Amino acid sequence: PLSVNQYLRQHIRTVPDWPAPGVQFRDITPLLQDPKVFRVLIDAFVHRYMDKALRPDVVAGLDARGFILGAVVAYELNVGFVPIRKKGKLPFTTVEETYELEYGSATVELHTDAVKAGDRVLLIDDLIATGGTMMAGKKLLEKLGATVTEGAAIVDLPELGGSQRLRDAGLPLYTLVDFA
Ligand code: PRP
Ligand code: HPA
Repeated sequence: PLSVNQYLRQHIRTVPDWPAPGVQFRDITPLLQDPKVFRVLIDAFVHRYMDKALRPDVVAGLDARGFILGAVVAYELNVGFVPIRKKGKLPFTTVEETYELEYGSATVELHTDAVKAGDRVLLIDDLIATGGTMMAGKKLLEKLGATVTEGAAIVDLPELGGSQRLRDAGLPLYTLVDFA
């Protein structure tokens, strides 16, 4: 019998040389497209975070694929969902965090009233590569006094060192599929 992790791995599509030559892009859209697979995926997260000790007060999702997962997981946990967006998209007052990319930098924002001091937040994205995006999300939530109890993603690319860097920074991680 296939484990949940093996089952999900079979439904991730690898696209060679996208968006640039030499990149093996791990495309999670097939997981969302098939209703049976989508349910197995969401239930893997919901099952973990329903547990009393791990149940968050709020789910925060990272732009853009973290919105798809985070919103559904939050709904199932019966907690609220807050989006962490790329700069210039959120209308109300925000906190922002800039981080380095391979070429250049990126800035993400969070509404200042999205979480309260003391909130326990689950931070969700589809994939961890360098970890820069998830680290920026953690910093934003911490600026507002919240605690990020765990970071969750479908895919980890451990060879890029991001997941190790996040764990070294004190963020526990839960990921479902590793690709070397
Ligand atoms: C991808 C992915 C993560 C991030 C991971 O998003 O969905 O958010 O990169 O990379 P990192 O660990 O090196 O930060 P992308 O920037 O492609 O944005 P999108 O979801 O809007 O396409
Ligand atoms: N897939 C999706 N998002 C990504 C990837 C990938 O392989 N690498 C960096 N961000």
